[in-house]
Amino acid sequence: MSKSIKIVNTEIEIAADEQLSVLENLKANKIPINNSCEGMGTCTTCRVFVHSDLSLLKGPNEVEAEAIAGRNFAQNERLSCQLEFEGSLEIEIPSTKLLADT
Ligand code: FES
Repeated sequence: MSKSIKIVNTEIEIAADEQLSVLENLKANKIPINNSCEGMGTCTTCRVFVHSDLSLLKGPNEVEAEAIAGRNFAQNERLSCQLEFEGSLEIEIPSTKLLADT
């Protein structure tokens, strides 16, 4: 199944390489997103808000669950470096909005 990622706050949609994480796909397509720990799952700066049906996503893995514990994440807030999905994914990138506003 082909995968795609739509960034709703930029209206950009990219074809996703299924071998790469969401973060890696964004970076490969030069979509600005913060990622201080470069995908290790510890900094939480790569967080995104998922606009897709949450029931279609796998729950957080152990690394992501540990990172978001105690940070009061919204239910649809996930780490793009850890998030796994199938098919089409719609996300909002808070850090991209900030970068676009500067
Ligand atoms: S890049 Fe640091 S948690 Fe994802």
